[in-house]
Amino acid sequence: MTAQLSKKSEAWSARFSEPVSDLVKRYTASVFFDKRLAEADIQGSLAHAEMLAHQGIISAQDYADIQRGMAQIQSEIAAGKFEWLLDLEDVHLNIEKRLTELAGDAGKRLHTGRSRNDQVATDIRLYLRGAIDDILGLLRELRLALLDLAEQHAETILPGFTHMQVAQPITFGHHMLAYVEMFARDAERMADCRRRVNRLPLGAAALAGTTFPIDRERVAKTLGFEDVARNSLDAVSDRDFAIEFCAAAALVMTHISRMSEELVIWMSPRVGFIDIADRFCTGSSIMPQKKNPDVPELARGKTGRVNGHLIGLLTLMKGQPLAYNKDNQEDKEPLFDTVDTVTDTLRIFADMARGITVKPDAMRAAALQGYATATDLADYLVKKGLPFRDAHEAVAHAVRTCVDRGCDLSDLPLEELRSYSPLIEADVFDVLTLEGSVAARDHIGGTAPAQVRAAIAYARKQLD
Ligand code: ARG
Repeated sequence: MTAQLSKKSEAWSARFSEPVSDLVKRYTASVFFDKRLAEADIQGSLAHAEMLAHQGIISAQDYADIQRGMAQIQSEIAAGKFEWLLDLEDVHLNIEKRLTELAGDAGKRLHTGRSRNDQVATDIRLYLRGAIDDILGLLRELRLALLDLAEQHAETILPGFTHMQVAQPITFGHHMLAYVEMFARDAERMADCRRRVNRLPLGAAALAGTTFPIDRERVAKTLGFEDVARNSLDAVSDRDFAIEFCAAAALVMTHISRMSEELVIWMSPRVGFIDIADRFCTGSSIMPQKKNPDVPELARGKTGRVNGHLIGLLTLMKGQPLAYNKDNQEDKEPLFDTVDTVTDTLRIFADMARGITVKPDAMRAAALQGYATATDLADYLVKKGLPFRDAHEAVAHAVRTCVDRGCDLSDLPLEELRSYSPLIEADVFDVLTLEGSVAARDHIGGTAPAQVRAAIAYARKQLD
């Protein structure tokens, strides 16, 4: 214990006359979650050291010693042999301490011209940039899987719903393409957020910049940042980029959750539109007949925690005066959990989309109930010259008769249909069929199979 405390005291030097209590140590430490930033921390330090050497602030020998020490630390971490110490508070001090053990004074010179404040801001941005790239890849895979499903079912008809009531027939391919659109916008948001994540805070030091002749642009280039953060106070203190990421992630999860809700409903034996491969479902410990859609249900549930993290980070930020405050240490767990949740969810959904079996007969049977082609009949009358409101009224009367009799519009004989409007002729039965109904919606964004195929081709091109 004494030995570990003396290690820590080196970070603060002689300013303190007593050590912090164990409780405070535990309360203020972040190493057990921020050690996830180790690789980003090492990359940031190496780029900083390279610049210090290039500027003549440290010697070439110091830089070489730092490189050697960091390589050793990387292999210790990879081998699970690195000893993370609570006494050293966070990932930064743990690595710096070990570097000093390995590289002596060179290790102690590494922190020249920087602070943990710009260091941690840099680490989070490097880490998040990588996480966004992973998420972009997964969003792409999910879209590709949905496009394959859409292609297989470009002509499969199911009822489209509004208010959870049968509205109009649509194609299953068209329905899948709706999600492709949502996930495409999610990818746009992620890519846009990445541009603002990808700016370098290093050089801001604690808050005001540094007195050393640093070259920030050099460090930015080494680390692949598109720009340097332009104000030192802002660079160390704002976490808006993490909030923005969580907002984009919350929308990803919201789209996943809506899809999950549909999958759960569709898989219910009462509906029976789809089946989901067994490997994504679980049984019941008591009811032998059950096969539950656990994955979509859990994803729907996990949306809540990602939404919560967004609100958590907004609340974390809102009361902070400039510049850095320790509050910001609380950014990490919500951010990491958001990354993990979204990454795992997208990975599993990209896989599960290929494990969905569509049941066209059940979909068709449902589309035949509920007067899904009533709008087509009204449109038919409009094309024959009737004003739309009158057409709507005439069809409503016909539907009323069908409801009373328990039959479909297409079951009514022509003479009877003509009693609702003399404009109705024998060709009416073309529009009363499900196929006629979907095929007629033949324009960009419409549900016609031809349009679905065109939309798939368009989306595939965007993904190339
Ligand atoms: N662990 C800290 C964080 O996550 C690092 C920065 C600490 N800086 C400081 N001045 N206490 O924010």
